[in-house]
Amino acid sequence: MNDSSLRHDKQVRQANAALLMAIDERQKKDRKDPFRLDYHFMAPANWINDPNGFIYFKDKYHLFYQHHPFSAIWGPMHWGHAISEDLVHWEHVPIALAPSETYDEGGCFSGSAIDNDGVLTLVYTGHAPNRKPKQVQCIASSPDGIKFEKWMNNPVIAFPPPDGSEEFRDPKVWRSGEYWYMIVGTSFEGNGKVVIYRSSNLTDWNYRGTLLESSGMKGTMWECPDLFTINDRAILIVSPMDMEGCKNRCIAILGEYDEANGKFMEQEWVDLDYGTDYYAAQTLLDGKGRRIVIGWMDMWGAKAPSAQYGWSGAMTLPRELSLFPDHSLCIRPIIELQKLRHTPRLYEDFILNSETIELPEILSTRLEMQVELDLRRTTAAKIGVHLRSSADGQEETILVYDSKYETIKIERNRSGIGDKNSCSYKVKNGESVLKLQVFLDQSSIEVFINDGRAVMTSRIFPRSDSRGVRLFAEQGTATFRSLRMWSLKSVWPQAD
Ligand code: FRU
Repeated sequence: MNDSSLRHDKQVRQANAALLMAIDERQKKDRKDPFRLDYHFMAPANWINDPNGFIYFKDKYHLFYQHHPFSAIWGPMHWGHAISEDLVHWEHVPIALAPSETYDEGGCFSGSAIDNDGVLTLVYTGHAPNRKPKQVQCIASSPDGIKFEKWMNNPVIAFPPPDGSEEFRDPKVWRSGEYWYMIVGTSFEGNGKVVIYRSSNLTDWNYRGTLLESSGMKGTMWECPDLFTINDRAILIVSPMDMEGCKNRCIAILGEYDEANGKFMEQEWVDLDYGTDYYAAQTLLDGKGRRIVIGWMDMWGAKAPSAQYGWSGAMTLPRELSLFPDHSLCIRPIIELQKLRHTPRLYEDFILNSETIELPEILSTRLEMQVELDLRRTTAAKIGVHLRSSADGQEETILVYDSKYETIKIERNRSGIGDKNSCSYKVKNGESVLKLQVFLDQSSIEVFINDGRAVMTSRIFPRSDSRGVRLFAEQGTATFRSLRMWSLKSVWPQAD
């Protein structure tokens, strides 16, 4: 082993040892923890943010992630690592990357994974806030897919481009024909942008210019880019900071990609998720040809009440991306999640008339719910469901459809001890049926709207005894075609 591998090895061993202790500590608190999720991916303990290196490699799914194994708040970034055969059940394996070199002394920031002729290879940003430049692009690889060595010739991109800035991070790399391509998020004169490079050997990179940039209001810095095609459409995912007055968003830009010239022609911008807690999404292409996306289910600056129980942050459910016949983006939960269903319930063709009904005996902390509302036979001003509501009426999360404004809203102002802001989505005009598919886990809610037209994700932090589920219609009738529900199994050993 050379000096660099020895250094890295030592740092990884220390990080794994710290994590083992943190797991122990967390497990001691686990029985009292009302927030630990049952079927979402989380780090075994402590802090997690962006998904990294999400790849289908040798018939398995690998998920790496931004991780601080030393505490439940953000700190010098490591890459955690987990492996799955079905994207639902995960095995935690040792930490893959730890800061160990001058170029990444402040952290191994986000990046991607590639299959380099059978060798699992990671491309990440070395972050060194006290050096100039502070962010450079680096590579590490592993003969066994578990233990990674940083390349001797790191950084492979040592400076941001002249039309970029020192905010220069989150490389996504892929192969096309005889070249490797890399896109990186950056900014120039206050506008977010994505730049593109090309290489034939992963070490020497030629700068090809700006792939796409904000023309003003679309964010001051674009983080975590990803680029792929589905059928005839190219899709560029970016996570802009400060877009349209909003702190952070995660956007899919649909358009055309000109590989020869390294340009992206934008046609349509959609939020990959309209909730409060979704960021830094990354995709993979799996053996079945599916484009799967996973995002960080949290947000910068959000309250993290689970930190008191020794962990913070999670991933969303994996979602499959496809195109509707009208070529717009379709986002649906992966089919494998159906394996978790048990105790089904079905209610068909019923009407609520300015009333609220309690749904009895439902394991509401781990629930999937599908609702079909016949809008043509619905006059109510608001139709919705109170979730995780307490018997004393103090707590509840409200998922509501406002028929006048045709908006779906997740109201969190009485959801518990987390943030109180709400989020909403305007459904397309003229739909005759409203379909909602809701996934509730201990401290999360994900709502898929109209078979994949949009998704909303939020974290909620209710008391563990707030478990009521109530359906309501206000000021008129609501005609339900069906309401289906399942309790969901846990994928982690501690529950069930
Ligand atoms: C996005 C991000 C990335 C960066 C990482 C640091 O959430 O800010 O741009 O690489 O998180 O943890």
